[in-house]
Amino acid sequence: MRVYNFSAGPSMLPESVLKKAQAEFLDFEGSGMSVIEMSHRGKVFDGIAKKCEALFREIMGISDDYHVLFLQGGASQQFDAVPLNLMKTGKADYVVTGNFSGKAAKEGARYGDAKIIASSKDANFTYIPELKYEDFRTDADYVHITSNNTIFGTRYLDFPKTPTPLVCDMSSEILSREIDVNKFGLIYAGAQKNIAPAGLTIVIVRKDLAESSTPNCPTMLKYSTQANAESMYNTPPCFPIYMAMLVLEWIKSLGGVKEIQKINEYKAGLLYNFIDNSSYFKNSVRIKDRSIMNVPFVTPSEESDALFIKEAVQNGLVSLKGHRLVGGMRASIYNAMPVEGVKKLIEFMKAFELKNK
Ligand SMILES: Cc1ncc(COP(=O)(O)O)c(C=O)c1O
Repeated sequence: MRVYNFSAGPSMLPESVLKKAQAEFLDFEGSGMSVIEMSHRGKVFDGIAKKCEALFREIMGISDDYHVLFLQGGASQQFDAVPLNLMKTGKADYVVTGNFSGKAAKEGARYGDAKIIASSKDANFTYIPELKYEDFRTDADYVHITSNNTIFGTRYLDFPKTPTPLVCDMSSEILSREIDVNKFGLIYAGAQKNIAPAGLTIVIVRKDLAESSTPNCPTMLKYSTQANAESMYNTPPCFPIYMAMLVLEWIKSLGGVKEIQKINEYKAGLLYNFIDNSSYFKNSVRIKDRSIMNVPFVTPSEESDALFIKEAVQNGLVSLKGHRLVGGMRASIYNAMPVEGVKKLIEFMKAFELKNK
């Protein structure tokens, strides 16, 4: 029996996608081979990679001004790749809204003057700081933000206007809501939440920013290396690219990101509404800044949190344990989490509250 998996990542993929991958696993479209067996330089895989990129561009509305790169190394490698490519004058602004943005800023500081221009650490990252254009340095190389904070359950409703290119870690919300890519210099995301299995990292980078890099940037981390080789400088993560293609086809079949966003807002609305009307469960994030992908919540005690997590598993609701930095519970409700999964979670929460209040 398949469970409802609320893991923050790797996380659920659409069942229809898994079934399609299963059906064509041994023999992909009459090639007599599995996708995981074929050369990345062959015609068949080339078709997959090209289709994946075309779908990605279509679904996110990415213009020809940008490269779309299929890389490895995770979002964490981009914490280094970004400064190594873009920090040409040695200065960058960082906004710290959680664990991952803090890590990005820390890596940035290895290469130059990475200034934390705003942080929400003062309130345990339960909000997104208000940012004005004047807050940013005009002579920096870029501004780095994390659009959705996976652990703390916050997200930027709107993005700041910045005097320098906006670089965004979009790992835990890419493809979940409509985004105007033109507002960004660079977007990166680990695939293992909304796109594909772990192993693929997507980088969308404005072409002019990818032309050169800092002198110490390793060949493998240069955006120009992979852009010039159409992401095939070395062996790419073939299977996750193929899975991403299937997920993108699934998104398209549902009506694109516009429709997915409606479903996501509906799912998150159900859950927040229940929590806000409960005197037992609580979410501490400033309402305006609440993520529609990751919903942290607690009961009145750590003991009942532990009991909740244990009993949830017995009810087919798994991976609800909150991150160790926050404790309590976290429901990650990415694109592939069906509405029924969220409804089942709410029913379970209702029953748990009645029994334990
Ligand atoms: C917002 C965000 N950034 C970065 C990471 C790290 O990603 P990776 O494990 O792909 O390096 C994560 C992982 O959960 C994340 O949620």
